Amino acid sequence: MKGQEWYQADDVAQEYDDKRFSRGGRLIDEREKRAVLEAITPVEDRRVLEIACGTGRFTVMLAERGAEIVGLDISAAMLQQGREKARSAGVDDHLEFMRGDAARLPFPDDHFDVVFAMRFFHLADTPASFLSEMCRVSREQVFFDTFNRVSTRTIYNWLLPMGSRLYSESEVLRLLNGAGLRLADEAHDFVLPYGFYRQIPDGVAETFRDADRLIGSTPVGRRMASVSYWDARVD
Ligand SMILES: C[S@@+](CC[C@H](N)C(=O)[O-])C[C@H]1O[C@@H](n2cnc3c(N)ncnc32)[C@H](O)[C@@H]1O
Repeated sequence: MKGQEWYQADDVAQEYDDKRFSRGGRLIDEREKRAVLEAITPVEDRRVLEIACGTGRFTVMLAERGAEIVGLDISAAMLQQGREKARSAGVDDHLEFMRGDAARLPFPDDHFDVVFAMRFFHLADTPASFLSEMCRVSREQVFFDTFNRVSTRTIYNWLLPMGSRLYSESEVLRLLNGAGLRLADEAHDFVLPYGFYRQIPDGVAETFRDADRLIGSTPVGRRMASVSYWDARVD
């Protein structure tokens, strides 16, 4: 598993949000949160498990909206950031953070309504086994994102500390099929890769984002999207 060691370090966990979601990265955070909300709304009173919840960006957001949510991650340092975020948001009594391995989820079959994972599958060496474990504990829905093989991400992937596993659409469809999941919806975004937005000031990021969306709405742009969001149902 890529990054299992990397995210254990306190300094990596402390800098995680700032490095990725300040400056133009704010737009990435907003887009990812919208993707999660669009997929799993209505949120209130749904039993939700977030795999690899990291610093709790989505866990806290969903607790604020009334979900019964558990955030699971293998890194104590990342979970600590999540607990602090939950305390600041005043929802620490409305969620549970749990240290655990996504390969062996400590829950019975069909325990949750929804199970989702963001920015996790690019780290997975054995995505099929993780997906089948997510599927096992979900009664209704599984949602996740992938970084795409045919995209601008390919250009700088080798520069990243641990690289990323990149997926083709057909590979994701095979994975869903193998896990017994039915694709209900999909979305593709970010012709300009995440790394680009992180480098530019917030003030100019909107302009690039508008252009990115415009290109992304064309058939060629859709094929060049660096991120895909996959919303599947348990049959
Ligand atoms: C790129 S971060 C994403 C965090 C969060 N989902 C987000 O989007 O901000 C990847 C996370 O996966 C966690 N992780 C890696 N391997 C894991 C495993 N086998 N089980 C659970 N979490 C894992 C890491 O500790 C890290 O917090």
